[in-house]
Amino acid sequence: MAAVKIKPDIYWVGAIDWAVRDFHGYITPNGTTYNNYLINDQQVTLVDAVKHDFASSTIENIKGIVDPSKIVNLVINHIEPDHASAIGSLMALMPNAVIYITERGRKGLERYTDTSGWTFKVVKTGDTLNTGSYNLLFLETPMLHWPDSMVTYVKEAKLLISQDAFGQHMATAARFDDEFLECASLFELEDAVWDYYANILMPFGQLVKAKIGEIVKAGLEIDMIAPDHGIIWRKDPGKIIKMYSDIAEGNADQRVVIIYDTMWHSTELMTIPIVQGIKDEGVDCKVIKLRASPTSVAIKEFWKARGCLIGTPTINNVMFPSVAEFLHHLGGLRPKNRMMGAFGSYGWGGGGVKEALESGRKMGLEMVEPGVQCVYKPSAEDETKCYEFGKDFARKVKEYQGKFA
Ligand code: FEO
Repeated sequence: MAAVKIKPDIYWVGAIDWAVRDFHGYITPNGTTYNNYLINDQQVTLVDAVKHDFASSTIENIKGIVDPSKIVNLVINHIEPDHASAIGSLMALMPNAVIYITERGRKGLERYTDTSGWTFKVVKTGDTLNTGSYNLLFLETPMLHWPDSMVTYVKEAKLLISQDAFGQHMATAARFDDEFLECASLFELEDAVWDYYANILMPFGQLVKAKIGEIVKAGLEIDMIAPDHGIIWRKDPGKIIKMYSDIAEGNADQRVVIIYDTMWHSTELMTIPIVQGIKDEGVDCKVIKLRASPTSVAIKEFWKARGCLIGTPTINNVMFPSVAEFLHHLGGLRPKNRMMGAFGSYGWGGGGVKEALESGRKMGLEMVEPGVQCVYKPSAEDETKCYEFGKDFARKVKEYQGKFA
């Protein structure tokens, strides 16, 4: 897609990746974008690069505005290869550009790329760059979500180029939130934000809160947030900042998500009365079968809901492999402020449900124990137990939700 002007003399010059479905293991059914921005000021400045496969796209976009050899500054907010791996192709066209980057960014970039002959200007929070009409302010955001991360604020444009923060993995012809919402729903957009936050930023909620607090305290006027993935927020950038603050504060829907797998359908059959019990208690419920769903979708749905029930058969005295894999991955994301319980079937020796509960306990979640189990296939009596279990769990989720009101 051709370059798009987002502010006077500032252009989106990125690339749309309609086809990517596996983004380092994170399944992206809607593709993604790699956004970068050209400031065609007296000192022509490029903010961020793109993924190497898309180097020619961004170069063509830049050439549509200015000869790349005229670029004298390259700001690298983040060195992850989806943003920085085209840097070699770009630097070949603008060998004299000075690279503005954090110290950790510079060291990291050297591990990925041959940087010999390039000129770096290491920056830290509060450092600025004047490009003529614009003043750029750099703010380090370490561990949001890599150690090198920073954001760039363009003062006179009231523009925050926020790198991964506030992004979404979504390929779309729309560049702005208002354009997107002309033909799609707010739910679709917000769901993409939840998806991205859950899979990328979940471990860093306290840092998200702290950084948003710093930006507010610094009194930066922001009327546009331009992330490095997905749409640009210009309609109401305060909305996405509030959404991030709420998520970081522990916001979640009053819902139970059942995340399960099954061998011979017994654990699956248990979900039916459990769902009914949850619904009869007036709580929304969603069901995700692990081998039928990408892990990233299960992670998103886990994070959107206040309560989660893990369903696992027992195999060789342990959890079913897909359930174990999911919980292992979830543990690494260090979830907080969520309630968890477990259920499942076993044949001659249990163990799966016990392990699932141990896993939730280790994560520090609000646990509802001991869960419910059945032998082989659920009997009518087991179904009643499952129904009551669902009701009881939903009641507890409602009580727990009250703590976050
Ligand atoms: Fe989109 Fe952390 O890279």
